Amino acid sequence: MITSSFPTRVAVFALISLRVGALDTFVAAVYEHAVVLPKKTETPVSQDDALLLMNKNIDILESAIKQAAGKNARIIVTPEDALYGWKFTRETIFPYLEDIPDPQVNWIPCQDPHRFGHTPVQARLSCLAKNNSIYVLANIGDKKPCNSHDSTCPHNGYYQYNTNVVYDSEGKLVARYHKYHLYSEPQFDVPEKPELVTFNTTFGKFGIFTCFDILFHDPAVTLVKDFHVDTILLPTAWMNVLPLLTAIEFHSAWAMGMRVNLLVANTHHVSLNMTGSGIYVPHSPKVYHYDMETDLGKLLLSEVDSHPQTSSSYPTAVNWSAYAMAIRPFSVQKDTFRGFISRDEFNFTELFENAGNITICQKELCCHLSYRVLEKEADEIYVLGAFTGFHGRRRREYWQVCTMLKCKTTNLTTCGRPVETASTRFEMFSLSGTFGTEYVFPEVLLTGIHLSPGKFEVLKDGRLVNKNGLSGPILTVSLFGRWYTKDTLYKSSGTNNSAIPYLLIFIVLMTADFQNIVLLNYIYVNMMMGSRDNIIHRHAAPQLVTPTNRCFT
Ligand SMILES: *[C@@H]1O[C@H](CO)[C@@H](O)[C@H](O)[C@H]1NC(C)=O
Ligand SMILES: *[C@@H]1O[C@H](CO)[C@@H](O)[C@H](O)[C@H]1NC(C)=O
Ligand SMILES: *[C@@H]1O[C@H](CO)[C@@H](O)[C@H](O)[C@H]1NC(C)=O
Ligand SMILES: *[C@@H]1O[C@H](CO)[C@@H](O)[C@H](O)[C@H]1NC(C)=O
Ligand SMILES: *[C@@H]1O[C@H](CO)[C@@H](O)[C@H](O)[C@H]1NC(C)=O
Ligand SMILES: *[C@@H]1O[C@H](CO)[C@@H](O)[C@H](O)[C@H]1NC(C)=O
Ligand SMILES: *[C@@H]1O[C@H](CO)[C@@H](O)[C@H](O)[C@H]1NC(C)=O
Repeated sequence: MITSSFPTRVAVFALISLRVGALDTFVAAVYEHAVVLPKKTETPVSQDDALLLMNKNIDILESAIKQAAGKNARIIVTPEDALYGWKFTRETIFPYLEDIPDPQVNWIPCQDPHRFGHTPVQARLSCLAKNNSIYVLANIGDKKPCNSHDSTCPHNGYYQYNTNVVYDSEGKLVARYHKYHLYSEPQFDVPEKPELVTFNTTFGKFGIFTCFDILFHDPAVTLVKDFHVDTILLPTAWMNVLPLLTAIEFHSAWAMGMRVNLLVANTHHVSLNMTGSGIYVPHSPKVYHYDMETDLGKLLLSEVDSHPQTSSSYPTAVNWSAYAMAIRPFSVQKDTFRGFISRDEFNFTELFENAGNITICQKELCCHLSYRVLEKEADEIYVLGAFTGFHGRRRREYWQVCTMLKCKTTNLTTCGRPVETASTRFEMFSLSGTFGTEYVFPEVLLTGIHLSPGKFEVLKDGRLVNKNGLSGPILTVSLFGRWYTKDTLYKSSGTNNSAIPYLLIFIVLMTADFQNIVLLNYIYVNMMMGSRDNIIHRHAAPQLVTPTNRCFT
């Protein structure tokens, strides 16, 4: 009797404790950190000096972690590059790197700090998690030895990766993610393929990636659509770019468009326009921070649902083109003109009246706007714009954008340029577009770079509409669409690649200002041998991006 019932009891007990242990909500924390930067140097510092600087930054993170734990936060996200900053070469970053093992090794660095060689940073981060009984995400640098048989192995014999690590509340390493979409980071290598990293907790399933990764399909979209994570953790060093890509604006829109929790920790560096962190849930931002005035870090805390899709406020799925495809275009505009948002050429049309129904098209994309302003300010003009095509200088990512925005001045040539203040309030707006993609992110940005939680919503048929009366003074109302399958480098994880994108890249490489004949040989040989991936990503990517040194512009 006893022997036979024992396993059952254990099982029942385990089930009950699982239920009891599971949480419906949890307190999340993100910390915007003003990084203590290293002195500029062309020659690498010693490992000791590197550790000294990283410990200075960890000292600051430590007090944020303690505070967060004191407020019962279960998890805290710290920013990309938070331990050492961003201006490096492969050589000068090297003393900051540690070999970070695969989490499968089941390691608590705090208890066993010497198991994988010299890893003082990992040991300290693990202890911070363990001592404060909180999950900690940190961004650090990983180095992985490789040898000359591997034709892609860099000269110094190491792959170097921009890496997120997560320690659980016992200090155990539970996740490691190598950033895939690098943005001008010559110090780091691109991993062979996008890694899909998740971990389970009693407060939901988590996925992680880094900064610029959020603009692409993999791993970002796959984690949400196929791995069904509840919450995404996003460390970032994000430079704000108005009107469409300011951190708080785009991140809150992504959380809403993807219908997932998103915890974002940005670095804080006013002179590089780096600020903007937040805790975003599918129906609204919970808390956000944007500060161009001070040099201070900031801890944000908020309670969020562990499983947002089971919550009553979970938004229904949106068909982003249903309304726009169903109606006849509003009156065709006579006064359309070309304008630019960064390098992207939009078709614009001015909002002449106090109210109206207008349509503007560019190729296959038509954007419809119905609006009524409270009072038309004489010194403020707004336009409706449409853009569909490859974005920016690199022209690799396909965008579809419908945007209503305030022009910088009353001169129409300034429409699309950054502007930070407005006074025009809208009694109603309704924006929709004939999008070819199901990935559309709804943005509403108000004067002074503020979000507009609770004051707008997306209807099932894809209309972005105001809610709860008069709006705040509007900088932009936009539907930002990403048509990933049209990207030149598109490759859904798990499916086979077509050769065409690679051929394109090959052509781009051939026409680029390239001195390295050996590299071209590698590419050629490897294309012939079928291992195009490594070569193209590992060597080509850094050549094709602008020579700035940040996560995102
Ligand atoms: C964690 O706690 C241990 C002992 O309780 C202490 O020795 C250690 O310094 C603490 N580490 C951190 C990073 O707080
Ligand atoms: C998380 O838990 C689910 C079942 O609840 C399981 O299928 C999955 O493999 C787990 N994932 C990880 C990363 O442990
Ligand atoms: C910061 O943003 C402003 C306006 O949005 C822009 O004029 C300025 O050039 C940006 N600074 C940097 C360093 O990019
Ligand atoms: C969205 O709506 C359009 C127009 O009604 C329809 O053609 C399309 O099939 C719908 N898309 C989805 C995914 O249901
Ligand atoms: C816009 O269209 C709506 C309904 O389609 C109509 O009620 C409204 O009067 C129109 N507004 C203007 C200014 O034409
Ligand atoms: C819209 O943009 C396209 C492409 O830039 C251009 O060919 C077309 O003339 C524009 N349409 C109008 C009405 O301005
Ligand atoms: C508008 O700006 C353009 C270029 O900046 C200038 O050439 C033009 O004269 C301006 N127009 C007016 C009406 O001020």
